[in-house]
Amino acid sequence: MKLLIINGPNLNLLGLREPDIYGRQDFHALEQFILASCEEAGVEAELFQSNHEGAIVDKIQAAYGNIDGIVINPAAYTHTSVAILDALKAVQIPAVEVHISDVSRRESFRQISYAGMACVKSYIGLGFEGYRQAILYLKDYLSNTTGE
Ligand code: DQA
Repeated sequence: MKLLIINGPNLNLLGLREPDIYGRQDFHALEQFILASCEEAGVEAELFQSNHEGAIVDKIQAAYGNIDGIVINPAAYTHTSVAILDALKAVQIPAVEVHISDVSRRESFRQISYAGMACVKSYIGLGFEGYRQAILYLKDYLSNTTGE
C-alpha cells in the first residue's frame, strides 16, 4: 500500500511562519514525523511539497494508477482551488485532508475547503498528529475497501 502525502504552499516555512499558529517545529521535522507515521502504519510513503497550484494538480494526476491513498494539506489552496478539488475527483484516489491549525476558529475566508469536498475524512487543528491520524485512517479505509 502506497500513500502520497502532499503539502501545499508555505508549509516549507514551518517553524519560521507564524509559530504561534503553526508551532516551532520546522518542515524537516514534519517530514520525519510523516515518515515515522508511515513506518508505524506499515505503508510506503511518497512526500511532495509545492508552492504551486498546477504542480499539485500535476502530482495528483500522476498518482493515478500508482498511489493507493492521498493525505493532503493544500494549505492556502484549500480555500481557493477548484482545480485541486477537480483533480482529486478525477483520479478517484481516496484522500484525507489535514490542517495543522484549527481553521474552523480562524478567519471567515478559511471556512470553505474545496479539497475537503473530495476527501473521505478531515483532521483539523491537531498539529503534526493530524497527519499520523490521517495515515492510520487511510490504511484502515483502504484495507477495508480493497481487501489488502
Ligand atoms: C493550513 C491552514 C490554511 O488556512 C493556511 O493557509 C495554511 C496552513 C494548516 O495546516 O493549518 O497555509 O492548511
